[in-house]
Amino acid sequence: MARPHIEFIHTQCVSWTRRADGAEEKVLNADPLTDEATLIVRYPPGYRAPANPKGNGAEEFFVLDGAITIDGEARRAHAYGFLPQGSALGFRQTEHGAVLLVFRHAVGNPDAMTGTADAIAILTPAMPWDVSTYDPKLIHLRLARKVLRLGPNNSGRTFLLTGMAHGVPPEGTTLPAEMHDHAEEMFMLQGAMWAPEGRMGAGAYFYRPPGILHGPHVSEHGFLQIMRSPGANTIVTHWSDTQKALPVGAPYRPILPEGTPVDWACTMPPETLW
Ligand SMILES: [Fe+2]
Repeated sequence: MARPHIEFIHTQCVSWTRRADGAEEKVLNADPLTDEATLIVRYPPGYRAPANPKGNGAEEFFVLDGAITIDGEARRAHAYGFLPQGSALGFRQTEHGAVLLVFRHAVGNPDAMTGTADAIAILTPAMPWDVSTYDPKLIHLRLARKVLRLGPNNSGRTFLLTGMAHGVPPEGTTLPAEMHDHAEEMFMLQGAMWAPEGRMGAGAYFYRPPGILHGPHVSEHGFLQIMRSPGANTIVTHWSDTQKALPVGAPYRPILPEGTPVDWACTMPPETLW
């Protein structure tokens, strides 16, 4: 069984679980057969840990808040990193604490092992935005992206995606839905986007397996998100023949795996600007 479809939750609604090492975590989505998972990890002030053991899967991370030094390099908010399995990397310490979004790869995943996968350390705010390659059917969102990682052997891409404010076509416009042959995963860093499942604000998260029809998406005030496409380095979109109404104002109707705690589906109030 593959990773389950969850679309979408606000991760603020998920409780922290304390780990034996003193850090806390929220496991958002996981493969039931391997230890592949996506989680938020909160390291307390003063936390230190040695390099990742050889038997641990590769660790891909994005700093959400605070600052942490990993392998001697300071990683502030929006730093991105990839630590291949077996690389003897991952020694970390934080003076004031840090919160990381972590994509943990399965133990033994050949595309995430040292020798095949490169270690990566990027301070993403310093990267230029790429505005060159978007599908004309998404022109209303005025998208730009920063590619953070292209996995070996077409194993998946990780990227930042931003859309400008006023990304809503005129009232009465209809848009097609979309589908991919690969999975999609998203964490909303800032701003908000409307989907048929409701309004994804900051902290929203989804994991969407291949073959799920989704969208359309529009955004009133813009957004910034980190996305992954596990199973493909290039996104190929199949558009539906039928058109759908704009999802502005759609009530929150999440798709949740069986057994998801009720609390996870709490609704978040829209951010207020004043
Ligand atoms: Fe998509």
